[in-house]
Amino acid sequence: MGAFFFLGYYLKKSVFHFISFRFVVLKMNEIMHQEKIEAIKAAIASADAQNQDELEAYRLQFISKKSVVGELFAEMRNIPNEQKREYGQLVNEVKQLADAKFQELIDKVNAASKKSKSMDLDLTLPPTYIPVGGIHPLTATRQRIIEIFERIGFNLSEGPEIEDDWHNFTALNFPENHPAREMQDTFFIEKNPDIALRTHTSSVQVRVMENQKPPIRTLSPGRVYRNEAISARAHCIFHQVEGLYVDENVGFADLKNTLYHFAKEMFGRETKVRFRPSFFPFTEPSAEIDISCLLCGGKGCNVCKGSGWVEIGGSGMVDPNVLENCGIDSKKYTGFAFGMGIERIAMLKYQIKDLRLFTENDVRFLKQFRSLL
Ligand code: PHE
Repeated sequence: MGAFFFLGYYLKKSVFHFISFRFVVLKMNEIMHQEKIEAIKAAIASADAQNQDELEAYRLQFISKKSVVGELFAEMRNIPNEQKREYGQLVNEVKQLADAKFQELIDKVNAASKKSKSMDLDLTLPPTYIPVGGIHPLTATRQRIIEIFERIGFNLSEGPEIEDDWHNFTALNFPENHPAREMQDTFFIEKNPDIALRTHTSSVQVRVMENQKPPIRTLSPGRVYRNEAISARAHCIFHQVEGLYVDENVGFADLKNTLYHFAKEMFGRETKVRFRPSFFPFTEPSAEIDISCLLCGGKGCNVCKGSGWVEIGGSGMVDPNVLENCGIDSKKYTGFAFGMGIERIAMLKYQIKDLRLFTENDVRFLKQFRSLL
């Protein structure tokens, strides 16, 4: 009885053993397969190809019969029947992934090779011409004038080109019917009250003095307009630069020294300056500023009409009336002002014979100033 029982137990145990052993082996196989498949999937996902060689390497690794995916299929015959279906599904999934990735890489490599073909460089071709612009000679001249005055403490100020009668004339001491107005006839936009295109940058002096307290040291470059017939020497549109210095004890010597300094910086050390008595309603005394002719050095030529001197602007001590008009105490403060034509200065500096060239925009003219960049 005991022996039977023992035999029964033994048989049962070994059958059980046999079953559990097979189960463990199957389970292990399954886990191994799953891990392998996951690893292959990850490898496919991160695979890349830049050229045909790498594409072929991918094909051998994941697509061909002997590839890792091919091996998974070959493995099918070792899979127990009851797991074949599940295994087959997994392997097919891997195959689809591998194929899709292959197509993606083929497209990528093809696109890249097309692109690199279109970017093929022929280094023997002549270079493409890139046009280079330049700075207009008036801009360059204005810039140089500003630089010179900035270094001796002048700041910049601007005003409107459409100006009222007060700022362009009346505050500057032009009485209503004074002939000086005639000399600066301009384009009127409105009558009573008069609004016109400014005839000079002196209108900016007035605006600065109305709004600032001395000491004032300012430079105002800008476009001005006059009713003039257009010729080689005159235009209805041109540019001026105004200078104004108001402080205690400013004298005519300061004016002269400032303009000497400017002339030498702008035209060269050898340049001489001459002041000729003149008249402006807003300065007293007034003077025209002449410099020695740059072409003939003062000997006389057709640019200076034989005189050896050329005029570059007007100047003078600001009339006390003008200071008062702008709310500045003329007992305490004095000042000087000057105004110069930018075209005039550019014409002298670059020996330009016709004023109209500045506004005609002829590239053959403008091209000559490219080096001013
Ligand atoms: N505004 C004067 C003109 O255009 C020039 C000038 C400016 C004269 C400042 C004296 C002082 O003719």
